[in-house]
Amino acid sequence: MMEPVTGAAPSADVGTGHEARERVVTRGPSRVPPTPHATALERIRTVVVEEHEDLARLVAHRIASLVRERMATGKTAVLGLATGSTPIGVYRELIRMHREDGLSFANVVSFNLDEYYPMAPDNIHSYHRFMWENLFSQVDMKPENVHIPRGDIPRDEVEQYCRNYEDAIRRAGGIDFQILGVGKTGHIGFNEPGSGVDSRTRLVHLDAVTRRDAAADFFGEEFVPKEAITMGVATILEAREIAILATGEHKSAIVRRAVEGEVNLEVAATFLQRHPTTTFYVDRAAGAALTRIATPWLLDEVEWTNDLMIRAVVWLSLQTQNAILKLTQRDYAEHGMSSLVAQKGSPGAVNGEVFNALGAKIRGKSKLPTGRRTICFSPHPDDDVISMGASCASSCRTTTR
Ligand code: F6R
Repeated sequence: MMEPVTGAAPSADVGTGHEARERVVTRGPSRVPPTPHATALERIRTVVVEEHEDLARLVAHRIASLVRERMATGKTAVLGLATGSTPIGVYRELIRMHREDGLSFANVVSFNLDEYYPMAPDNIHSYHRFMWENLFSQVDMKPENVHIPRGDIPRDEVEQYCRNYEDAIRRAGGIDFQILGVGKTGHIGFNEPGSGVDSRTRLVHLDAVTRRDAAADFFGEEFVPKEAITMGVATILEAREIAILATGEHKSAIVRRAVEGEVNLEVAATFLQRHPTTTFYVDRAAGAALTRIATPWLLDEVEWTNDLMIRAVVWLSLQTQNAILKLTQRDYAEHGMSSLVAQKGSPGAVNGEVFNALGAKIRGKSKLPTGRRTICFSPHPDDDVISMGASCASSCRTTTR
């Protein structure tokens, strides 16, 4: 497993809060230079690992140690569980630990975050089915300890049902460890934009973005339920420890928003900034937009490798809307890149080096005919521009078919 790149904490252990400074370790093919001040921007303790599997192992091992610790003292471990693609790796690892390492779930009580409404528990799309298939049926979980909101409660009974769900969590002693995924809208559970920090378990309307994201699972957006029953933001924030997980590039923007942005009603995940023992676990792709990875030179001194220099200068050019060859000392200074100019001697030297490096990426340029008309046959309307535009624009007139 790769060593995690931690943001605001000394190690991969969860639940240590925000007080500790970081130990940054990077290994593997795409190394990120240490950025000791990442914490200045990151308002949730964030652990970046290389791959989804690394993240699944970290979280599963944390759960296992909690479950074992409780087992040793004859107590229950109360887990808050999520569905969706993100936690599947965690469940897989827990199942492996059950089979190979003797991890028992006999003392585990679980509460799931949500369920579509209306939805019969035995429907293939239900979160009941998801949980039994992906975890419960493969470990020694006691069925009476499993709690998942039911999506088949008559509408006029839903309110009371939701109150009972909250009571059941309280009677169980509260949630010890809550797993969360995050939706593109920033939802946690199904707390869509507008869900208040005081919200409790209730029936909610699903956001259009969420329904669109679920469309493939339901074989069409029109088949995705419009409502769901979800634990509230307040219910979630009462958990003693929270692990929020995100994987894949499509989550990178919302990860940055949740971790570095202001707390806002429109992005429920930002409320986790107020929870002292939340850790955000992301793989490299989901963490890609975090400042410490996307633009580390804004945080601290960096080691200017060739790749980093090119990435930074292209970024600077886009930021300032200045052509690369026209970037000035002031542009560099105002964007945390003075050390690069100092290293290369002058802004002109940096500009020239990056310009030439980019130009050299255009393969076969010298073999292109000059002053002649070229016809490109493109299978898709965009391909001519994407594949040929840069190569041909400077040297010849291009017609695409
Ligand atoms: C599911 C849940 C949701 C998901 C979120 C991310 O129980 O509460 O908040 O965690 O929609 O879903 P995936 O993991 O499928 O990207």
